[in-house]
Amino acid sequence: MREFDEATITDAVLERVAGTPDLRARQVSQALVKHLHAFIREIEPTEAEWEWGIRFLTETGQKCSDTRQEFILLSDTLGVSMLVDAINHRLPSGSTETTVFGPFYIAPPEFELGADISGHLQGRPMYVAGRVTDAGGRPVAGAVVDVWHSDDQGFYDLQKFGDDPRPAGRGRFRSGEDGRFHFWTIRPTAYPIPNDGPVGKMLSAQGRHPFRPEHIHFMITAPGQRKLVTHIFAAGDPYLDSDVVFGVKKSLVEDYQAHHDGKAPDGRVMEGDWFSLDREFRLAPLG
Ligand code: BEZ
Ligand code: FE
Repeated sequence: MREFDEATITDAVLERVAGTPDLRARQVSQALVKHLHAFIREIEPTEAEWEWGIRFLTETGQKCSDTRQEFILLSDTLGVSMLVDAINHRLPSGSTETTVFGPFYIAPPEFELGADISGHLQGRPMYVAGRVTDAGGRPVAGAVVDVWHSDDQGFYDLQKFGDDPRPAGRGRFRSGEDGRFHFWTIRPTAYPIPNDGPVGKMLSAQGRHPFRPEHIHFMITAPGQRKLVTHIFAAGDPYLDSDVVFGVKKSLVEDYQAHHDGKAPDGRVMEGDWFSLDREFRLAPLG
């Protein structure tokens, strides 16, 4: 009978999974065993610590529901989501860069260009315009542009569906013949990711804050082009250098231009403070 000890257990498990018939499943199983055993050898947990680790993962799963995905938050806050994003989007230079998808997307209602998507959200008015182009800078007509963002307290509509189940701060537009789209909404704000669960406890134990810098999400699809999932971050935000999910890229930071009174680009006469953003989204070709 074969026995296993500290010196031989890793190779024994690797041998056992070496016969996994599916090639990809075999690669994943072998890498998992190799790195998990190396992790344990490095930290040498006590039994109490290992039980704690199992409990942490159990609670992470138990915190998940239809509207809360704690495992995505764990992946995001450990930088794994952005690593997976980077590996899967090695784009030609000049293409708009991608960033993390996040847990707050739901299929949005469709609007005409120029509509106001803020719904029942409170906040200062913001005019958002964009131009969708291909790798050569030519306009892409008919691109589907989904946008979503928080309110001015840092909450997405679906985090407050208990109070009001109507979607707000999200919408779908189609770019015009010139590749352009525009809409009205309210200016969002920086916000903490949900931190009342195991991921929040992990962040406090690591001495980290839970904030994301202010941003608006965009997901843009068009035939023949790679899907673009990105944000546009607000220049000057204090959390740009310490985004809890490591999602910021310099090329995605823009001035949310401040205005007072005057006329908006679509001719609307404004009173008081309002903001505007106009930005190109350059898609990478498929294949
Ligand atoms: C978001 O930007 O919506 C988001 C991304 C990652 C974790 C939590 C929220
Ligand atoms: Fe967000």
